[in-house]
Order: sequence, then structure tokens, then C-alpha cells
Amino acid sequence: MNPPTKAVPTRRSWAEPFRIKVVEPVHTSTREQRDRAIAAAGYNTFLLRSEDVYIDLLTDSGTSAMSDWQWAGMMLGDEAYAGSRNFYHLEETVQKHYGYRYVVPTHQGRGAEHILSRALIKPGDVIPGNMYFTTTRLHQELAGGRFVDVVIPQAHDPGDEHPFKGNVDLEKLCTVIGEAGAAQVPYVSIAGTVNMAGGQPISLENLKAVRELTARHGIRVILDATRLAENAYFIQQREEGYSHCSIAAIVKEMCSLSDGCTMSAKKDALVNIGGFLGLNDPALYDEASNLVVVYEGLHTYGGMAGRDMEAVARGIEESLHDDHIRARVGQVLYLGDMLRDWGIPIVLPVGGHGVFLDARAMLPHIPREQYPAQALAAALYADSGVRSMERGAVSAGRDPTTGDERFPSLELVRLTIPRRVYTQAHMDVVGESVYYVFRERERVRGLRMTYEPRYLRFFQARFEPA
Ligand code: F0G
Repeated sequence: MNPPTKAVPTRRSWAEPFRIKVVEPVHTSTREQRDRAIAAAGYNTFLLRSEDVYIDLLTDSGTSAMSDWQWAGMMLGDEAYAGSRNFYHLEETVQKHYGYRYVVPTHQGRGAEHILSRALIKPGDVIPGNMYFTTTRLHQELAGGRFVDVVIPQAHDPGDEHPFKGNVDLEKLCTVIGEAGAAQVPYVSIAGTVNMAGGQPISLENLKAVRELTARHGIRVILDATRLAENAYFIQQREEGYSHCSIAAIVKEMCSLSDGCTMSAKKDALVNIGGFLGLNDPALYDEASNLVVVYEGLHTYGGMAGRDMEAVARGIEESLHDDHIRARVGQVLYLGDMLRDWGIPIVLPVGGHGVFLDARAMLPHIPREQYPAQALAAALYADSGVRSMERGAVSAGRDPTTGDERFPSLELVRLTIPRRVYTQAHMDVVGESVYYVFRERERVRGLRMTYEPRYLRFFQARFEPA
């Protein structure tokens, strides 16, 4: 046998634990077409038509590929108005894997946030949490509450490689409770992987400490379980004592340290639509299941079709398989490592659901008032048809009391990876486009906002070149 002429592999790769049975065509476009499309969309990637997008990394929400087992379950939808068997399957699955006694279905995560905020928050209340999320904070504010960020300071520094940037600053939490008074703090809001920090996890050690501290004051802990499986993966990989634990066991332990959860099933749970509230307190359940009838639908469907509840139940099972989550996060790390190796400023460590570009570091010539992250997302789309999302000042919106714009320390563009949808070759195309835009960064110009909606402005705001 002749010796090999090319370099031999020095590693053994992993691959996705599935093969592809159905495909959906995507189309490339010309630079001219994309320039026109992004201008027509007011330089807001939310306002692009999906058909004009080549690789869609806007969000991992509702964009995952369902399995054959989930699709088979869709055919078993029991569309009775009341008491659908799919609801009971969902309820059993949540009880088994998350451990909550009661389940209130909702059409998606913000439906659960709305019900919970109405049930628990009274005007003047303070809700501490490990960094804000857009819809979560808005529902807290609409119920008369005020969100206070108690995440550790490292979370606000894109380059800090703390392994658990979603951790709570316990001293700060203590101070917030002391100043507000425990009676004014209805719950502490804890996200499993912090979206706005770049998909960063909280450690079990820290969550236990939060539980202990809040228990002393009789304050509830409510988890945002939207990406809890991804958080569990980081605990398994990084936290001492958990390397031998399954993702399912870690998820259950995290839930056991809380009094309830809000869930957007559109992420971890691998469905296109759905959500729920998980609760333990019977009185709170009564209140929530009454409110859900007003705002979502009967308490055995909450805005979902029976088939959707079946897909959620099956998706939860699949989301907790170790080989699934390793490949899911592994694909995100693949893209993140590529960009990092090429010297592109990203949030480190790489998060669970996407790679976050540090727009301030990438485009230092654009002032904050001209929304560098919004401009970067538009430039990336124009370059290659890759759609990303702004996660900076536009997303942060305005302070409800002063009306001033909020300029968070993180001005990011999120390349969000849908689950089980794209291949490694897609990731290469994305990485190369980011590199090209970075190389030509002087050409990217800032933006001026020409239309600003009142709520969650990032979804519908329009811009023009400044
Ligand atoms: N909580 C977190 C952490 C989220 O990321 C989201 C949605 C929600 C709650 C609300 O859930 O969309 O089902 O109403 N995040 C999407 C995103 C929109 O793109 O990150 P929803």
C-alpha cells in the first residue's frame, strides 16, 4: 500500500444522530436583489420575506425540524374542545421530566409569561432576574412590576470566558430584596441559558444558592425553561460532579429548585408552536387555569391544537436525549470556533443556541445611536442572504418611566441555529459571509430609525441609512 499523499485525519468526528428524510428547497439570490429586499424591509431582518432568505438564522424559535415520531403524533391529534387526550399526554410528560404537578398549556412562551405575570405581580413589585428577556420583561412591566437585573457582571462582558455567565450575583439579589422588601418581590425570574447574554448557562451550584436565599424570604423561584436542556448540557460538560449525569436528570434537578416555569416549547421542545406554565402551588394553578380561559383558550388546550400538544409531548422526550443535545450544541460550537479562529469578535464562551457577534467591537466606527448591530445584521443579509437578528439597543427599547432609550452593554447580532435543520456546509457559508463582512467592515454604515412601534420595537421598527 502506498503512503497517503494528503494529510491524514488527526481527529474522530461526531455526526448528527439522525438522517434526512424530507427536504425543503432554499434559494440563493443576487446582491442587487438582496440590496432591494433589505431596503424594502426598512433594514430590519424581521421584515424580510422568508422567500428572500437563503440561510435563516433569525431565530431557533419554532424553526426546528420535527422528527418522524413527532409527525406521526400529529396524526393522532384529538381535536376535542375539552379534555383532549393529547393534553393528558403533555401533562404526564411535563410531570415526568420537569416534575411540576400542574400544567397550563399556552399558545407559546409569552402566553405563559402573560398569565404568570397577571397572577403574581402587583403594581410596584420588583422582579429580580438573571438578565432581561424582551417579552418576559414587557409582561412584568405591563402587570405593574419592575425588572431588576441581578446577573453576574461577567455576563455583560462579551470577552469574559466565565463558564456560567448566567449565574446570579447573590449579593446583588440580597440587596435588591432588602431594598424592596420581600413582600414586594413576587418571584425571582431565572432563565436556563440566558438568551440576551449569548445563550449562557446558570450552574446548579448557583441555582441552589438562589433557592436557599429566596426560601429564607419566602420568595418563589420561577424558571424560564425555554432552553433548559441546553443549560443542562453545559452543566454536564462544565460543572464538577455532573459529568456522569444525564441531561434529563439535570433538567429535573433544576426544576426541583423552582416553584414553577414558563416555557416556550418552540425552542428546546422541537415544535413550531406551543408553550405552557408548569406549577406546583394549587392556588396559583387555580388562578392561572382561570386566566388562561380568558386569554388563550380552555385549560386543556390553551391555544394549541390537540396535534400540537402531541408534538410538544414527543418533542420534550427527544429534547432530553444526550446524543441530540450534544449534536445540537456541537453544531453551534462548530460555527463559533470557526469565527473565533478567524479573529472575529464574538461572545465567549459560545452559547447554546447561537453565535453572537459583538457588533460594537466589529464596527467601532458606528456610534451606539446608529444601532451598529442592526446595521451589521442588514449588511450580513445583503452579503449572502443569511438572516440574523439584532440583540442590542433596538431590542432593549425604552425605559417605561423616563422614555429614554436603553443602551445595554451588549450590542450583539445573533446567528441563531434552528435544531436539526442545517448542515455543516451551511455553517461554512455563514462563517465565510461573516468573515467577508468583517473584512470589509468600513463599508458598513449606521442607521437612523424612521418608525418606532410602542411595544417590542425590534420586531417592526424601520430604518434608513444614517
Ligand atoms: N423566554 C425566552 C428565553 C425566549 O427566548 C423566548 C422567545 C420567550 C421566552 C418567549 O417565547 O416566543 O414562544 O413567546 N424567544 C424567541 C427568540 C422569540 O428568537 O429568541 P415565545
